[in-house]
Amino acid sequence: MPRIKVDLSNRVAIVTGAAQGLGRAIAVALAQAGARVACVDVNESLVHETAAAISQEGGTAKAWVCNVADSERVSQVVNEVVDEWGGLQILVNNAGITRDNLLIRMKDDQWDAVIGVNLRGTFLFCRAACRPFLKANSGRIINIASVSGMIGNPGQVNYSASKAGVIGLTRTLARELASRNITVNAIAPGFIATEMSAKLGPDVLEEIKKRTPLGRLGEPQDVADAVLFLASDAASFITGHVLTVDGGLTV
Ligand code: NAI
Repeated sequence: MPRIKVDLSNRVAIVTGAAQGLGRAIAVALAQAGARVACVDVNESLVHETAAAISQEGGTAKAWVCNVADSERVSQVVNEVVDEWGGLQILVNNAGITRDNLLIRMKDDQWDAVIGVNLRGTFLFCRAACRPFLKANSGRIINIASVSGMIGNPGQVNYSASKAGVIGLTRTLARELASRNITVNAIAPGFIATEMSAKLGPDVLEEIKKRTPLGRLGEPQDVADAVLFLASDAASFITGHVLTVDGGLTV
């Protein structure tokens, strides 16, 4: 359950990568705050599960199957969401992948896949969502970056570059769109307990806990609560910010 009380009724939100992990927690939290949530993901069965779970709890959600790197499909999804619910107020770019390898072993397709989903996908959804945002003269964009995009992480040149790109994109869009009352912020999670971080294995995760001042991995809810804050009216004067949710890892 969200630990901050935020009223997002009458808002429509898109959350990418909503089938599992952080995206699912973010979609659930936005719906619990009253928003109608478009759950977007490539994983057809799981994204329908997320939307169904939200509806069962009394929230409003619908699933859209979409590869965030597919330009045409992204525009189509944004148009369909606006047609379905009459507008769009919040975009959370959360879909992301890793294809880790040391630089000298990294394959072209590992580089391209990660930049394609994490950076191009974020760009495509920002561009498409801007149409309804500009029309309404308001909007909130929240991009999920990573501490890897700030301090780097060996074995993740592709991932760190994509997330540093997301941070640059966030700051530039914040400047470009501020006059239209559209805020653009990023969240940089540290290590959060999801399937993505589980791939690192128990030994690495123990080491990460030791390096984290708060001594634990984050929970998806820690990130979802930060999204709720940035989506809320309380954050209306915050733009171009990168909020770390990392247990102190980068201090
Ligand atoms: P996850 O792997 O559990 O979930 C990612 C979701 O994105 C999945 O549902 C997947 O199907 C979806 N997805 C992947 N490629 C897609 C595509 N092309 N189009 C549409 N959907 C796609 O990952 P997790 O941990 O929930 O991560 C979510 C975001 O948070 C990612 O951007 C990740 O980089 C970021 N992050 C995660 C951290 C962690 O420790 N878990 C730390 C820092 C950042």
